[in-house]
Amino acid sequence: MLASKRILLIIGGGIAAFKSLELIRRLRDQGAAVTPVLTRAAEEFVTPLSASALAAQKVYRDLFDLTDEAEMGHIELSRAADLVVVAPATADLMAKMAGGHANDLASTLLMATDKRVLIAPAMNVRMWEHPATQRNIATLKGDGILFAGPNEGSMACGEFGPGRMAEPEEIVTAVEAALMEGPLKGRHVLVTSGPTHEPIDPVRYIANRSSGAQGTAIARAVSALGARVTFVTGPADIPPPDGVQVVRVQKAAEMLEAVQGALPADAAIFAAAVADWRVANPATSKMKKDGSGAPALEFAENPDILATIAGMADGRPRLVVGFAAETDDVVANAQAKRARKGCDWIVANDVSPETGIMGGSENAVTLITADGAEDWPRMSKDQVAARLAQRIAEALAE
Ligand code: CTP
Repeated sequence: MLASKRILLIIGGGIAAFKSLELIRRLRDQGAAVTPVLTRAAEEFVTPLSASALAAQKVYRDLFDLTDEAEMGHIELSRAADLVVVAPATADLMAKMAGGHANDLASTLLMATDKRVLIAPAMNVRMWEHPATQRNIATLKGDGILFAGPNEGSMACGEFGPGRMAEPEEIVTAVEAALMEGPLKGRHVLVTSGPTHEPIDPVRYIANRSSGAQGTAIARAVSALGARVTFVTGPADIPPPDGVQVVRVQKAAEMLEAVQGALPADAAIFAAAVADWRVANPATSKMKKDGSGAPALEFAENPDILATIAGMADGRPRLVVGFAAETDDVVANAQAKRARKGCDWIVANDVSPETGIMGGSENAVTLITADGAEDWPRMSKDQVAARLAQRIAEALAE
């Protein structure tokens, strides 16, 4: 149900635009109020009158329509909605979004909005598969844009493949998911994840075996509870979740900078396996074997991101959660780590080789808080993430 939800529906110029009229009807059937915006190209496929009649609302078309500006400015229009939906999202509109253009009403609204944006791409299969579109998709996903479809099938142009716009009922389901009110709605949660790569020279680096699986699962779980998520990730093996703001970094120093840049946050979860040491003076050109023996690498200590954020005098997130990978005396070591780093909770896991946890899909953790240690049964990393997200929601609600 979408009772009392306001949807700003941007209709792009593609043959699938005719389905957007049906989308308006279905969204309204669920109780949503729909404000349509037509691009110039969209008007070649659907008329403003039909969109307006189905929405029972004024249709917005032009950035420089002074009457509109007098009634409601484009900034306000972009923010009055609970969700912005783009259907069909053409290759051109997606390119504009990825490039940050603001040269017509639709693209300006998309730049100005502070709400989540869900797009339903529709284009010819070759256009979908084009490297430029694929680059734009990656950029948009990294910006936290949500996607509905496209589907695979035969197209109006006679070709077959991915590029068909999702059906209106599928888009309505995606809208409902995007607007789901979770206990973390309105909260900003920061998650670090993955390994770091500390350069030795331009081609070599020091890394670790973190896959990023647990951090990714946590970001997905807090996002599913409605949080706005900033996901700061080192070069991980697995892709980041959809619908979160992704900041990619390589080195620990960049991770700290990205984390500081993402504040303020209500909660911060530090799941990244940050290198404790970096090469003090990475070579600026590739180191060569010159017969003078093995190079001696000099190390410098990296900043402790968790301890830095947990120790902030001003603007510290209300809840700061760290991880501890231990092989012996798990609880005692993790409790000491919690005190040393100044964080609120530590999620401790036993990474002794016989547990198979490092690099595996399961985890057995102990949650260390001010109240003591709580052993959780062995479960999948997704289940650990869901349970942790629930606990975070409860803690922030107090
Ligand atoms: N951490 C961090 N910045 C660092 C090092 C670690 O933010 N430079 C965070 C990690 O993201 C994790 C926690 O601190 O939340 C882990 O602390 P760390 O001291 O590295 O512990 P372990 O990896 O468990 O190893 P050790 O006990 O050997 O220190």
